[in-house]
Order: sequence, then C-alpha cells, then structure tokens
Amino acid sequence: MGLVLVCAVNLSVSKDAAQETVSKHGQLSVSGVHLVDKNGDKVQLKGMSLFWDVWKPQYYNKQSIDGVHSSCHANIVRAAIAAATDDGGYVTTPEKTLERLYAVIDAAIADDIYVLVDWHDHAADTHLNYSLKFFDTVSKKYSGVPNILYETFNEPIAQSWDDVVKPYHQAVIKTIRANEPNNIIILGSPKYSTGIDQPAGNPITGQKNIMYTLHFYAGTSDQGLRDLGTRVLNGGLPIFVTEYGTVNGDGDGPVDTEETRLWYEWLDKNSISHVNWAISDKQEGASALVPNTAAADVCKENFLTESGKLVVAHNKA
Ligand SMILES: *[C@@H]1O[C@H](CO)[C@@H](O)[C@H](O)[C@H]1NC(C)=O
Repeated sequence: MGLVLVCAVNLSVSKDAAQETVSKHGQLSVSGVHLVDKNGDKVQLKGMSLFWDVWKPQYYNKQSIDGVHSSCHANIVRAAIAAATDDGGYVTTPEKTLERLYAVIDAAIADDIYVLVDWHDHAADTHLNYSLKFFDTVSKKYSGVPNILYETFNEPIAQSWDDVVKPYHQAVIKTIRANEPNNIIILGSPKYSTGIDQPAGNPITGQKNIMYTLHFYAGTSDQGLRDLGTRVLNGGLPIFVTEYGTVNGDGDGPVDTEETRLWYEWLDKNSISHVNWAISDKQEGASALVPNTAAADVCKENFLTESGKLVVAHNKA
C-alpha cells in the first residue's frame, strides 16, 4: 500500500510549482500551442520576475533565488535585464550587467528551476547591435543548458510588428540559434505585449520552439484580452505570459483579486506558463515584497505584500 502511494505521488504532476523542477521536466519544447517537457507532456511553469536589474540589484543573487524557489513556490525566475535606462544598463555597463545575470542563472541551475533571460527594453529595436552581442554572449556561455529560456524584447510599444519588431526578433533568433539550437525563445508582441493579434496575423515561420508574449495586469486587462488570447491560441499561436500583475497596468494601484482569479482560471485551463511582476520591495501595488525586504527573506510569509500573498498561494496550488 505504502509503495503504491509513493509511486502514485511520483508520477503525478503537483500543483505546487516548486516541485516541478528541471530535473523532473528537463528540456522544454513547443508542441502545437503547448509548452511540453522532455517526455512530450504539457508543462505549465509558474514563477516570479525580478525587477529591472539596475534598480533592484539586491535580488540578483543566490539567497534571493533560493527564496523564489522554496518560499515563492516558483519553478521559473525571470531576470529583467535593463538595456538602456537613465540609470544605466547593458549598453553602458555590460560587465556589471552580465555579472548580475550570471548570478541569477547559476543560482537557478543550482536550485533546479528554469530561468528566463529577458532583454528588458521598450526600444530594443534601437539597440539591436547590443542585443545581438548580449544574446550571443549568454547563449554561447550556457549552450545546451535546459534551464534557460530567452525573451528577446520585453514590451514593444507602438513599433510596427511587420516592419520593425518581427525583423528584430528574426535577427535575435538567428544569433541565439547559432549557439543554442533547442531552448525556448519568447517574442515580445506590440502594445506592451498585449497586441498578440499582430504576430498571429504574421507569425515567424521556419523556426521551432518559438512562443509569443502576452502580458496582462488584472486591474487593466480583463475578458476582452482573454478572448483575444483564446482566439490566437485557436489559430495556433503558442503563448507565454512572461509578465503579469495583480494590479493596474502601471504596476500600481489596488490588487484586483477577483480579476486575477479569472486570469488564473484561464491560464490553468489553457496550460499557459506565467511569471509575476515582481520580486521588488518598491512601494507600489505590484511588488511582492514589503519595503526593505532582504534577499534572505524573499517570499517569507511576513515579508509578502497583498499581491505577493495572492501570487504565492497560486504558485503552490
Ligand atoms: C553599436 O552601434 C553603435 C553605433 O554605431 C556603436 O557606437 C557601438 O559600439 C555598437 N555596439 C556594439 C556592442 O556593437
């Protein structure tokens, strides 16, 4: 009886994302519209995004990532790598940026979780040569490591998909694929990654293991955006929610618990992976952590905000 029980537990997929590790699921790929694991079974990653590395570098380390896995119950962490902000980024300080990124990647590997390498830039098309250098460097260093996923362009704004964003992604895909033939590459869609109809109408062809970003903030985006998501899924476009918030689209405002639950239902029903914004102690609604939270206390119960509590409860159930 005991043996049967143990086997049953080992074979099932836990709703606690913390238990659905890289050693269990291994190399990911895309099958139809679904993210699947090494056995070809559907897998749904649930996790946390770090805040822009230039502004919250205190969470770009092993202690923090340990907390993301064990206390936030996440199986993916997103490193939001600033390209060019008023306070710097990869364009001005590439070594410092890579040091922070590598700390997060190496911690994620040690902790047996996935890690999303995000070029966090709203104007990535104007920094293409830097982006190519960045993705070439990282994909060379971590070639063949199953933990890694790439996100080439966080949130294009008004740039044209057909003329600007799609050609940008194609250039970055080519660069990554020269070093890394298999890992998932996720492509930002226009209008802060809510304009998913645009890539659906003109997708990138001739590539495997490509997905497209849909971002939502529950206080701003509701059934209309879910319906659009359902339509593009039905049309065959694989979706990954690389960023979502429980609050308004500006990252602030009250937690919209009811709308967030409707989003979770939709994500779970469609097995769509999703990553919450953000591991941050900035005083704003989207932050998962209360002000002055240390890396060692990431997602410990007493340090979670209202948003953080909602997200962590979902990650483990
Ligand atoms: C990118 O292009 C700019 C403008 O030509 C140049 O100054 C810069 O050195 C280039 N950077 C890289 C990483 O290629």
